[in-house]
Amino acid sequence: MCGIFGYVGKQQNAAEFVLSGLKLLEYRGYDSWGIALKISNSKSQISNSRQNRDSKFITEKHIGKIGNAQLSSNDLRSNLAIGHTRWATHGGVIVENAHPHLDCKKEIAVIHNGIIENYARIKEGLLKKGHKFVSETDTEIIPHLIEEFLKKEGFASAVRDAFNQLKGLNAIVVANSLSRQIIAAKTGSPLVIGKGNEGFFVASDATGIIKHTRKLLFLKDREMVILGDDVELLTLPSGKKKILRFEQIDWKIEDVEKGKFDHFMLKEIYEQPKVVRNIAENYTSQIKELKKLIDKAKGTFLIGAGTAFHACLAGSYFFSKIANIHINTTVASEFNYLEDFLNSKSLIIALSQSGETIDVIEPLNHAKEKGSKIIAITNALGSTIYRMADYKLLLGAGPEKAVASTKAYIAKVALLLMLSYAVAGKVNRAKKLLLDASREIDILLSKKNILKIKKIASIINSSEHLYTIGRGTSFSTALESALKIKEVSYLHTEGLAGGELKHGPIALISKGTPCVVFAPQDETFDAIISNATEIKSRGGLIIGVGPKKSPIFDYWIKIKDVSEAQIIPHVVFAQILAYYLSVERGHDPDKPRNLAKSVTVK
Ligand code: F6R
Repeated sequence: MCGIFGYVGKQQNAAEFVLSGLKLLEYRGYDSWGIALKISNSKSQISNSRQNRDSKFITEKHIGKIGNAQLSSNDLRSNLAIGHTRWATHGGVIVENAHPHLDCKKEIAVIHNGIIENYARIKEGLLKKGHKFVSETDTEIIPHLIEEFLKKEGFASAVRDAFNQLKGLNAIVVANSLSRQIIAAKTGSPLVIGKGNEGFFVASDATGIIKHTRKLLFLKDREMVILGDDVELLTLPSGKKKILRFEQIDWKIEDVEKGKFDHFMLKEIYEQPKVVRNIAENYTSQIKELKKLIDKAKGTFLIGAGTAFHACLAGSYFFSKIANIHINTTVASEFNYLEDFLNSKSLIIALSQSGETIDVIEPLNHAKEKGSKIIAITNALGSTIYRMADYKLLLGAGPEKAVASTKAYIAKVALLLMLSYAVAGKVNRAKKLLLDASREIDILLSKKNILKIKKIASIINSSEHLYTIGRGTSFSTALESALKIKEVSYLHTEGLAGGELKHGPIALISKGTPCVVFAPQDETFDAIISNATEIKSRGGLIIGVGPKKSPIFDYWIKIKDVSEAQIIPHVVFAQILAYYLSVERGHDPDKPRNLAKSVTVK
């Protein structure tokens, strides 16, 4: 939620650095964007009415996606700039609400990610003191609050004291036109600091920074960093100095660029055979360690949000079927209300691509208070969930930039399959199934199959509703497929357990209603085919997915039997369908409306 990028250093191209950093972070928010820079050349010409040149900062703000935007002036030499891509919380999507926000004197510029729970009360106090506000955002109180503190103390102390007053989970980056410093602080949302030859960078994730440096510092909650000629790390609320250590990460530039693909979503779909193979080949010892924790625990719970929850659901079927143990799963945001029984022997396995989802962090905090142990399965080294866990497992899927999760979901399912086979003492069987599943994805991605899926997309493109059904492990496949299709194509899609159809939803089936039927060669085959037959007799159009053709299928996507690993290629089919439906309907699959990649607010 919201992309943050800042630079301070020796180079005069701060504006260019921040602009290209924001472009890489656009997937975090794309309602509007803005930038503030401390200008070095006073002769700069301003041509755009949305750009404000004052004696302190140049700010420029725009509505919509940053896309390929350029700044208005062609001479913006500066060695300090901060920028933001917004996902609106307080205040509509208008230029005035875009970040950065300034104080009355226009000397302090602030960008922010999070929600300030007590902003109304603080704003009231500031209004009484004569501060003037130009936006409806909660963020705007921060520069004014800092302005107040600056009357009696220095920049760093003023930022510390202002930040300490904010309630809620927040990350801020503050620039001061009177000093060559940027200060960042956080209690919730992520912030990463990069130390490069050109100077210091701050961003909401590593994606924007690795072009400049891979030496990173992941800021912890209640930490503040001062960036200028050097770097200083302080603890909050006290402001006491801390020792800091940068880590070297191994992501490559190609990982965060689209390359030959039209969209990140498609690129990430094509990366999946490699992601699955990597898990089959390189995770055995880590998985065996986690197995010991499950063996020891008295009660294990899987939690995640959205797509991650669908992976959890698949996991709970795997543990039952393969390891004959009961592992509960709940949507993370509901676990808060369903965890009264947790104790020090409980084990929570939290799944989160970003490692920053607030709906997962909250119940984990409660579980920690009760002394429960936490395993984090995440894609983001140094993320909040990664740090708060007792045991950590990285998905190794590489940066996922499309808002709709594809490869991270597949990695989560693959790891849970390995883990349940490890608990059953048969980890080698999981490895074989994963390699088979990886080959099936390769086949799905062949030219012939892509053309076939594209054709199905064009046939169902103008339907009003789409249903996806499955039983057993394929119930989770149906849910994940429906989510992927609806979020990127906006075609209303509902995922159902085959058995539930007759309990209500079948009333919605009419002539031509398309239905994707997941029919693997397992104990669910006959029952799901009979559900499909019920749909067909009411005029439904049946798209069958599985190893065996049934006469009731109008279209059939053949995927070989890979036992429980079938979820993997079956969901990949739905991802490809979702992608082409989105493109066919004229949408941007990478940036679905109203969504953001990392959901750090409740
Ligand atoms: C859907 C999607 C979301 C995320 C959810 C949790 O395609 O990506 O449903 O899965 O917001 O995100 P993470 O895994 O980062 O916790």
